[in-house]
Amino acid sequence: MRKKIALIGGGQIGQILAMLAAQKELGDIVVLDVPPYENVCKGKALDLMEMAPHGNYDANISGTSDYKDIDGADVVIVTAGKPREAGMTREDLLSINIKIITDVANGVKQHAPKAFCIVVTNPLDAMVYVFQKVTGFPKNQVVGMAGALDTARWRAFIAMELGVSVADVAGTVMGGHGPDMVPLPRLTTVGGVPLEEIATKEQIDRLVTRTREAGTEIVKLFGKGSAFFSPAWSAIIMAESYLKDKRRILPCAALCEGEYGVNGLFLGVPCLISGKGIEKIFEIKLADDENAMLQKTIAAVTKTVQECKI
Ligand code: APR
Repeated sequence: MRKKIALIGGGQIGQILAMLAAQKELGDIVVLDVPPYENVCKGKALDLMEMAPHGNYDANISGTSDYKDIDGADVVIVTAGKPREAGMTREDLLSINIKIITDVANGVKQHAPKAFCIVVTNPLDAMVYVFQKVTGFPKNQVVGMAGALDTARWRAFIAMELGVSVADVAGTVMGGHGPDMVPLPRLTTVGGVPLEEIATKEQIDRLVTRTREAGTEIVKLFGKGSAFFSPAWSAIIMAESYLKDKRRILPCAALCEGEYGVNGLFLGVPCLISGKGIEKIFEIKLADDENAMLQKTIAAVTKTVQECKI
């Protein structure tokens, strides 16, 4: 029997998620949205079914507004919510999206209690916290998508700056999904060569700043709405690692209970995603300056979570 993937929210990211999940044949796909957008989702689902002969995939893809249709889902990816608009911070979205995520978490808890849940909705570090609190799901089963995207942006900007293949750029970005995130140049390599040996300090500083502001750069260009291709791909590789037990190590917003001195918060940290979900969090030895940056991002995440009052 095919696996089942429930996409809660069928907007910009949700539709790309559906297309990627189909193309990768991860399983059957249900896209859930609220009325009247459920009809748009039904239409997009049908469009994707009709793309299958050329896309060369077998999957049932459907749209709904009824949580019964996600019964028994193996993976749930949550993008339900309002996206950022020009001039808005992720925190501006907080009050609107807390309510949406609470509704979604109750629906998922009732209908897909065993699913591996990936939260994408912003402000990410707070929304994944709310989702876990409301569902009460174990920590291996709930994760936020942020670091995979921030790391993809870091790698892309390095490849663009140095004129090299992005395939050869390896690195990681830790911390919260905001302007205090922590790209780690010291641990970044290009074809095995340390980044700090082939890029100047000025170049690296510029790359760090651009990565931290990458979401905002796109929001400014769009004027309305936020990035969707790269967030969708980032969530899909996390889902794929779980469904296929690929055991990828990716930075994810995971519930820390002591790691990096953090207790009870979701923070972007390197994680092993296996068929068990978040199987392991890796604690990297950080240099003093890196640790100082991490403390700053932890303070920012703590503040946003406290504002949730949950
Ligand atoms: N249940 C299900 N879906 C909902 C609910 C709800 N309670 N409330 C809103 N939605 C749906 C909207 O109808 C919309 O179709 O969520 C969808 C969100 O899609 P977009 O507005 O296109 O937003 P998108 O670009 O996909 O981003 C979604 O991810 O990266 C974050 O900041 C981004 O928080 C935003 C989220």
